[in-house]
Amino acid sequence: MIRVTRRYRFAASHRLHSSELSGAANRDLYGKCNNPYGHGHDYVLDVTLEGPLDGATGRVCNPATFDSLVTESVLRDFDHKNLNEDVPEFAAAVPTSENLTSAIEARLRDSWDTAFPAGWPRLRAVRIQETKRNSFEKIR
Ligand code: NI
Repeated sequence: MIRVTRRYRFAASHRLHSSELSGAANRDLYGKCNNPYGHGHDYVLDVTLEGPLDGATGRVCNPATFDSLVTESVLRDFDHKNLNEDVPEFAAAVPTSENLTSAIEARLRDSWDTAFPAGWPRLRAVRIQETKRNSFEKIR
């Protein structure tokens, strides 16, 4: 078995604000991330898969197939978008990096079997780096 991680990048804006909290509680919890007009990030997305090494190709999967999956199920809808306004998952949920990581993992999981009908490779982890100081990983 080989584990492979591919890296993607996208830029998006968001505002962290929970409708379940008061204005003061939102400012206290999210700080400047609660500013009304939002702010942007250059997100780094690492997707990790694993599978058996194909003796004929020397690969675990075709990178082009994988890139198409990530582009069509994630990057097309997230890159240069406002997460709060443009991405349906955040109509109700706060677009924290935790929720962003979960939403991306769910989208990849939904499309995975169509992209890889043979059952390999398997999705192992989705990691989002939001800033130099923090990153978030959804593990399976
Ligand atoms: Ni932010």
